[in-house]
Amino acid sequence: VLEGIEAGKKAAAIEAVNALIKDGQVIGIGSGSTIVYAVERIAERVAAEKLSVQCIPTSFQARKLIHDNGLILESLENCPVIDIALDGADEVDAELNCIKGGGGCLTQEKIIASNAKDFFIIGDTRKKVESLGTHWKKGVPIEVIPMAYRPIQLQIEKKLGGSAELRMAHRKAGPVVTDNGNLLLDWKFQNITDWDYVNGVIKMIPGVVETGLFIHMAKAAYFGTADGSVSIRK
Ligand code: A5P
Repeated sequence: VLEGIEAGKKAAAIEAVNALIKDGQVIGIGSGSTIVYAVERIAERVAAEKLSVQCIPTSFQARKLIHDNGLILESLENCPVIDIALDGADEVDAELNCIKGGGGCLTQEKIIASNAKDFFIIGDTRKKVESLGTHWKKGVPIEVIPMAYRPIQLQIEKKLGGSAELRMAHRKAGPVVTDNGNLLLDWKFQNITDWDYVNGVIKMIPGVVETGLFIHMAKAAYFGTADGSVSIRK
């Protein structure tokens, strides 16, 4: 029996897959713990309803998840236009702006989301906030080219305040290395309201690969609670 938060993640994932996945789709598969329930449900529906869908991963984890669930693994080379992308998020605000990248997969996630006709978020209800930074206290993840991490830290702090910390690995000496061979900064911010502006400022710093700010990208977000109920923010 799944408890609390996990039950909420699963409820949101199942509701979204039941409502949104259709025969013939090219599906972008996000990363993290919530997407696992979605992929399992997609695999169930593919088997039960004989659906034909192709899945494009956003990370090493997603690629393995697609493979392990017996789904068809595809790439942007073969399928450059994605019908629908599903992904978790660390936090979603009232305008559906998200912080993503707690799991470090933000760059491929953003590439997939931005090439999808529709992008949907799934998560437990903790992630549903009015403004970013309410629940998620680990900051905005930013993927950077390794040799530039130190000047990027200084420039972000000078331009936008806060602190941009290099994400360190657990049980390994040294930093977290992304699926793309880069490093991550977690930028802890204060008093930010114009996320479009902030995202632009960070992205313009040479050596920044991508930010975990997903601004005006999601079409809707499915939030699940422990009792199995799901609310949809559009
Ligand atoms: C991965 O880099 C992240 O963007 C995830 O999508 C996000 O952290 C959500 O993960 P959970 O579903 O595990 O909360």
